[in-house]
Amino acid sequence: MRLQLAPSVLSCDLSRLAQAVAEMMDAGADWIHFDVMDGQFVPPITFGDQMIADLRPIGPTPFEAHLMTLTPERHFEAFVRAGCQRIIFHAEASPHGARLAQSLREMGVQAGVSINPGSPPELVRPLLPFVDLVLVMTVNPGWGGQRFLPSALESVRAVRAWAPELDIEVDGGIDPDTLPVVREAGANVFVAGSHLVRSPSIRDGLRSLREACG
Ligand code: DX5
Ligand code: ZN
Repeated sequence: MRLQLAPSVLSCDLSRLAQAVAEMMDAGADWIHFDVMDGQFVPPITFGDQMIADLRPIGPTPFEAHLMTLTPERHFEAFVRAGCQRIIFHAEASPHGARLAQSLREMGVQAGVSINPGSPPELVRPLLPFVDLVLVMTVNPGWGGQRFLPSALESVRAVRAWAPELDIEVDGGIDPDTLPVVREAGANVFVAGSHLVRSPSIRDGLRSLREACG
């Protein structure tokens, strides 16, 4: 199972975002992770498809949009057009997850489904044949810089047991100390936001995470 790093821009200085994305690409990020919040599914509002489209020419590293939005399907087309190669919606945000995932694949992108730490992993089980990735939130969605919730490890273990080959991503409180723990539970794609901003540079932050991958 290939271990992958997906730096999030959420905690970066948005006035220097192009520079941050270029540095992430240059430092060998596998994906760039964009946290889209609508002020409804989660309280904050972040950014939309236009910002992602404007960053797309910076380089070839694939983009993923983590949609923390209600009615996520309303936004699929816009984020695909903006240049995202993977769209992740929340299982809690739709009773029609299988249909949503299928529609993403028909648009030619990977389909990801996410669950909150408090949701039972059974919520995504029926969706597993239709998705390319499950994102297990390891903090409650909405803000960067929160403390990792070990209770979410149960969900990672459950999904890994049901889907031995699937990409399982974790998001929230990931740093060189927590990465080995989630990896051990079965995750193979790691999102990190505030750890990179706390590091001397984004490059250093990614290097420390790669070292923690072993
Ligand atoms: C939180 C977002 C995360 C966030 C993680 O709702 O989904 O992607 O950027 O930030 P850290 O790594 O600071 O927990
Ligand atoms: Zn995220």
